[in-house]
Formats: sequence, C-alpha cells, structure tokens
Amino acid sequence: MKHVLSAQQFERAELTDMFARTDYMQEQYATMAGRRELFATHTGRKMAAVFYEASTRTRMSFVSAAQSLGMGIVETENAALFSSAAKGETIEDSARVIGHYADILVIRSTEIGAVEKAASVSPVPVINGGDGAGEHPTQSLLDAYTIQNEKGRLQDLNIVIGGDLLHGRTVRSLAQLLALYPNNSISFVSTPDLQIGADIRHYLDQHETTHIETDDLYGVLPNADVVYWTRLQKERLKDPALEAGFVIGQMALDVMREDAIIMHPLPRVGEIETLVDGDPRAAYFRQAENGLHLRTALLDQLVGEAA
Ligand code: NCD
Repeated sequence: MKHVLSAQQFERAELTDMFARTDYMQEQYATMAGRRELFATHTGRKMAAVFYEASTRTRMSFVSAAQSLGMGIVETENAALFSSAAKGETIEDSARVIGHYADILVIRSTEIGAVEKAASVSPVPVINGGDGAGEHPTQSLLDAYTIQNEKGRLQDLNIVIGGDLLHGRTVRSLAQLLALYPNNSISFVSTPDLQIGADIRHYLDQHETTHIETDDLYGVLPNADVVYWTRLQKERLKDPALEAGFVIGQMALDVMREDAIIMHPLPRVGEIETLVDGDPRAAYFRQAENGLHLRTALLDQLVGEAA
C-alpha cells in the first residue's frame, strides 16, 4: 500500500508522470464536459479529511479534488476539538477505525511523525497533509509542479528560500524534492535562530545540492530564478518574541530578475506586501490553484492503484 508521508519517497520519473496527470486534470476541470467525465472516475469511493490543525488550501483543495473525482467526503470540521482525540484517543486507534469508513485518509497533525504513526496501522493509504514542523509532501509536489510550469525546468535553478525555515514544513519538503534534480543551488535566508534544520542540510549534502545560509536577502535576490517565501510559524515558536523580519516588497522587486518568480505556500501574514500581487512575477495565487489539480492527480493515482 502506498502512503504519501515524505518528499523523500519520490523519484523523478514519478514526478514527471504526476505532473502530466496534473496537466490532464487541469484541462478536464476547465470544461463542464471534462468535469462530468472526471466525476465518473471514482464514484462510490470516499476520502476522509482528518485535520487536527487549521487549514484552508490543503483541506479545501483535497475535498474539492475528491469531489471532482466523484468521491464522497468523510470529515470532521476540527478533528482536535470534535473527534475523539479530544477524549484522549491515539491517532493510531482513530486511523484504524476511519480507515474502514473511507478508501483514503488525508491527515494533518500538530506533531512531527504522527501521520506516519497513523499510516503504520491504517488499512487504507494515508496522505500527510502536514505534520507539525515535519513535512508537507503534497505542498512540495504542487510547488515543484509550479516551478516546472513557470520556469520550464526543475534543474539549473538558483532558489532563494526564506522566512521561518526552522518551523516551516513546506520548505523542508521542497528542499528535498529540489535535491532530485542536478545543478540546483539553494540560498536559505533567515535569522540564525530560524534557519533550516541540520537534517535537511545533511540531506542536501548527500545529494550534492549546493546550499548556503545567509541573512543577506538583497545579496542573493538578484541571482534568484525562484524566490520562495514563508511566514513566521507563530503557533510553533518556543520564544514568542522571535521575528523573521524579512519582507518582500518594492525593494525586492527592484533587484529581482525579470524572469524570476515569487512563490509562497500561503497564508501570508505581511511578509509579502500586497503591492507585489500585481507584479507578473508573483506566482503564489497560481501556485495555490495548481494545488487543486495536483491533488486531483494524486488522489486519482493512489485510489486507482489501491482499487
Ligand atoms: C502551509 C502549512 O500548512 O504548512 N500552508 C499550506 O498548506 N499551504 C504553510 C503555513 O502554514 O505557513
């Protein structure tokens, strides 16, 4: 049974296939005839969305994707409050049971490794929709798809990744996917307190992906093909006084290349000024839209394989 737990599990050929399937989903979704055809593919199947942490894009795009494929939805509005987790049930026991109510589970947890624990006992495939400051593999898939779409390649790129890199899970998963492709060079921009984990740096070394850590945003922006920004993960800070402090605004736009793109997993809370939104290089809303089609492709593949 195939679970989606970490960006590390993917190979390049799989991504190539998944991105072709994503293109197809986008085309189908664009017409009513296409949508009706898509709707017939997995009718009778169900997806459970079990989210112990807040979510807009991940949960709603997964629910929308499952509905596009004709699947039914099993969910609790707030699993931390309204599921038996509130009574102290373990995630393993919940997954064992919910796995008999649906054909695939998408789980988001506040705790690193919790989704993996659920997968270890689940009778059906489990997708990690984000596990604390651990990983967010499906976000990295849609991020990689977006880079491929916007830049035409996933190799030979200078990528500037900034913000709260210590607690942000999207950057951890994305860095691992970028390591699959040759000649990528990553500049991690943050304060020393919020820099990327040693495990990710080690992984990049093993894969011979060049990387530096810096707080000199304007030193690295002029060479960037991709600027990937993130918010301060306030809910995960041990010291609430910490600040990431780097904001992408007019000054950043002025020094960036014309063909660069700006990405963000969203939500943004001030670290990209709204004046950036109108610039053609701002790719974050296109990126969020890609999430729907990528997740439709992913569900189609996983549910199809398990059938
Ligand atoms: C991210 C997450 O949940 O990790 N959001 C998302 O899924 N697009 C980023 C964040 O919350 O900062």
